[in-house]
Amino acid sequence: MASSALIEIEHLRQSLRRHEHLYYVLDQPEISDASYDEMMRRLRDLENQHPTLITPDSPTNRVGGAPREGFVQAAHSSAMLSLDNALNEGELRDFDRRVCELLGRDDHPYTAELKLDGLSLAVRFQDGLFFQAITRGDGTIGEDVTTNARTIRSLPLRVDTDLPRFEVRGEVIMSSRAFERLNSERDAQQLPRYANPRNSAAGSLRVLDPAVTAARQLDFYAYLLLIEGQPVLESHWASLDRLVSMGFKVNPNRRLCGNFDDLTAFIADWDLRRQQLPYEIDGVVAKVDSLEQQRQLGWTAKAPRWAIAFKYPARQAETELENIEVQVGRTGALTPVAHLKPVLVAGVTVSRATLHNEDEIERLGLAIGDTVMIERSGDVIPKVVRVVQQAPGRRFFHMPVQCPVCGEPVVRAEGEVASRCINPDCPARLKESILHFASRGVMDIDGMGEALVDQLVDRGLVRSIADLYGLTAEQLAGLERMGAKSAERIMTGFAASHEKSLPRLLNGLGIAFVGARTAQILADTFGGLDAIAQTPLEALQTADEVGPKVAQSIRSYFDSPHNRQLVERLRRAGLRFSHEKAAKTGSSLAGLTFVITGTLPSLTREQAQVLIEDAGGKVTDSVSKKTNYLVAGLEAGSKLTKAQSLGVPVLSEEQLRKMTLA
Ligand code: IVH
Repeated sequence: MASSALIEIEHLRQSLRRHEHLYYVLDQPEISDASYDEMMRRLRDLENQHPTLITPDSPTNRVGGAPREGFVQAAHSSAMLSLDNALNEGELRDFDRRVCELLGRDDHPYTAELKLDGLSLAVRFQDGLFFQAITRGDGTIGEDVTTNARTIRSLPLRVDTDLPRFEVRGEVIMSSRAFERLNSERDAQQLPRYANPRNSAAGSLRVLDPAVTAARQLDFYAYLLLIEGQPVLESHWASLDRLVSMGFKVNPNRRLCGNFDDLTAFIADWDLRRQQLPYEIDGVVAKVDSLEQQRQLGWTAKAPRWAIAFKYPARQAETELENIEVQVGRTGALTPVAHLKPVLVAGVTVSRATLHNEDEIERLGLAIGDTVMIERSGDVIPKVVRVVQQAPGRRFFHMPVQCPVCGEPVVRAEGEVASRCINPDCPARLKESILHFASRGVMDIDGMGEALVDQLVDRGLVRSIADLYGLTAEQLAGLERMGAKSAERIMTGFAASHEKSLPRLLNGLGIAFVGARTAQILADTFGGLDAIAQTPLEALQTADEVGPKVAQSIRSYFDSPHNRQLVERLRRAGLRFSHEKAAKTGSSLAGLTFVITGTLPSLTREQAQVLIEDAGGKVTDSVSKKTNYLVAGLEAGSKLTKAQSLGVPVLSEEQLRKMTLA
């Protein structure tokens, strides 16, 4: 019995390892997530039945162990030094000249690699099994983060090799996408945001609970193979290839440069393309390729003489904080926005940046008049990173006690970071709610832009979302910058909104913490809108992903007489309150799998996803042979390249829209 279980267990482990490598390292999955989960479940069941057969390298064993009290220190096998920097081409030339002099030759090959912006980690293997991971620390002694590191899926726990012991050094990073997801979750939970992907990668690796690290989706890219603390093989390039064949993730964006000119070409090339990468880099690392030459060059006390980090100019700039203005969002949250003296950052003029909330301003120690450092990373909104110099007559910011728009009192609930205007009739909240309600992916009311909404609210034509359904084409046509044609278009949009699904309506109501995904879950779990509105607090929490905070927000929404009245009026207007779980509004994309990448002209990714799913299609995260279409917008990065190499057809937003209508 146990031996047949052993055979099955070994078989499952081998398949799971192979599929993990395909998915996390090569980004080329061959099976669905569901089949993978199924195999994992079977393995877990078998291991539960036969606990003696559990091994540390089992794929089930990534998130093991309870949270710890602290980290133990561990010594490095050889110093984990840093690199000298070159901040411009001149400094890079100086470096090359020194190398040439020391080697006594005119040129020599370099390996050029991207300098990933994360934290370095040394991982050790014995008899093919991962057994220890140590952070850099002071270069001699670091922290043992083994349990957390094993949750990083791209780090193999077992390697097929005849080397008895070896060490791999590399960079732990968090992708821009994972970083943004993490920060929006933190916003929703009213927790402070992480400043950048590097800090959040470092924070995530050093948390005491490995389950937290596992949820953070870190990645490990290998860049150095050591045996007994020393590099091996004849060249660095060859050792990178060796790492690849051992199953490590090595960044594919590397080049073996024949000479210095090749190296500068690589650097110039990536300066243009780095924005498209799904993670942040802060430069390029150039290493003299031959290990013999590396040995000849040796080390200084701080860094190797055979390598240099070329740093791209920072996407940061200093400017003056001229004022802090407060904006009111649709949930009533007051967001402080920095008004900056316009400044050019990496080619874009920046004059505003979000400050998120009062606590963030306090954390930064910010006051009006100060000189501040601002930063653009990826395509995210610029942010203030720190105060560079305090101004003599600096003015401190205080959250207003009254809403800047309606003048009603502002409330900051206990344990929340946001101050909110709780006046349900606040025009600012109303305008934002209407824009959200009408937006693509929600009610799809084409032509309902800010200029129109401003007029509707300011002229008192609309005091609630429900009033939209009482508007006439004549009223609309009479407004500024509107004609009979645009009025008609909007009326058609209102009429079509009656057919929109319940999840869309729920999302459209603008209940705090209830976006498209939660709305879908609520509708699938409880059915109609009335059922959701009547479900008690505890019962709401039986739905997936609905915790106490979300449940409380739903309850407060439906407990408010004001909102109940709004809901009744929407019912009378004929909106869809019922929900048929399996029924999709369309089936033109049934059976097709899509991946969305880059910035689309008018849809957010979430909206594009809703569009696809409503038409019966499926959206996944990574491109594989099974992907039917890639929907790509501006700055599409590696997914586009991958789709092209696999022959997956690429669609624009426009083409996608046409397909959903088919
Ligand atoms: S080589 C002696 N290669 O940059 C060789 N480092 O400023 C040491 N880094 O501590 C490192 N990408 O954390 C190397 N492809 C790469 C790298 C890289 C990022 C980091 C690493 C190192 C720091 C040096």
